[in-house]
Amino acid sequence: MKKILVTGGLGFIGSHVVVELQNSEFEVVIIDDLSNTNVEVLDNIEKITNIKPQFFQIDLRKKELVQDFFKNNQLDGVIHFAASKAVGESVEKPLDYYENNINALVYLLQEMDKNNIDNFIFSSSCTVYGQADELPITENAPVKIAESPYGNTKQIGEEIIQDSCKAYGFNAIALRYFNPIGAHESTNIGELPLGVPQNLIPFVTQTAAGIRKELSVFGDDYPTLDGTAIRDYIHVVDLAKAHVSALQRLLKKENKDNFEFFNIGTGKGTSVLEIVQTFEKVTGKKLNYKIVDRRPGDITAAYADTTKANIELNWKAEETLEAALLSAWKWQQKQTNKE
Ligand code: UD1
Repeated sequence: MKKILVTGGLGFIGSHVVVELQNSEFEVVIIDDLSNTNVEVLDNIEKITNIKPQFFQIDLRKKELVQDFFKNNQLDGVIHFAASKAVGESVEKPLDYYENNINALVYLLQEMDKNNIDNFIFSSSCTVYGQADELPITENAPVKIAESPYGNTKQIGEEIIQDSCKAYGFNAIALRYFNPIGAHESTNIGELPLGVPQNLIPFVTQTAAGIRKELSVFGDDYPTLDGTAIRDYIHVVDLAKAHVSALQRLLKKENKDNFEFFNIGTGKGTSVLEIVQTFEKVTGKKLNYKIVDRRPGDITAAYADTTKANIELNWKAEETLEAALLSAWKWQQKQTNKE
């Protein structure tokens, strides 16, 4: 059995990836500092897979702890999610973001090199493309100057990995996610936003649940069909499966370069108002919303050309937007009932 380290494995995307790895016969060891999740997620993963992954509560900024971990664990690969991800907060506290997102990455790569561990998967973001000049966005689209320190950590992260692959000879894949949404169908794991959600779908589900009064739709004067901004919303379970495909590509040495990157989305663009309408349709809930000004830093439209991932990773998003929104709603209802 191949043993894979998943950093940030108790977070939203990380926990879904752990489940898919265990379903694909990988042994998983998780590192998480619990800064944006809680340890119960470990039991909830076990409820789905009947396997409790090994877990270490480690802050990856503590270099000695990272060194100790690698000394004591033989690994076949690393999937790295542990990072701060709030765009607004990153503008206020850029150095916290650089310290957390960059230092942790560097320490991990140093230990991989020292301990001869190959196969690294990095959680990157479509934010690296900014407002792309052409849609859908292919991997050939240029990387644009980052809009936020958070976005910059993804760009710098990819560069650090690329340089390291070249110098130390290991193999890595960066997955550039579009907008991950939804929850596992079991409703045992999902997204746990702290405080007021910044992302659209948790705000939608919390509004439908009565936790928020109304959804603010940020701008209806974009040059799109209904004037609201367009994104590519991908079910988190589909996204999780892309990681297993990427890992298998590296383990089977099918990669064509020692650093590769892939867009992970559905290929379909959906406007904010289409999200509202589809949510209302699948849940039968009426959603209070009002149109407000655009949110600074938001782009008009982003959706993926997923051809490269479809062919090279032999992976394709299979879930519908309806299924993703319904799963997000069921997850929200479960959280509301707990309170
Ligand atoms: C955001 C981040 C992006 C990050 C991603 C992670 C920004 C500018 N970008 O992407 O860097 O990788 O989250 O998931 O924050 N919207 C509303 N009302 C709301 C919330 C959102 O109308 O209350 C709209 C937004 O204007 C946008 C769409 O919904 O058009 C999606 O927003 P969001 O979920 O925040 O994702 P992104 O902004 O695409």
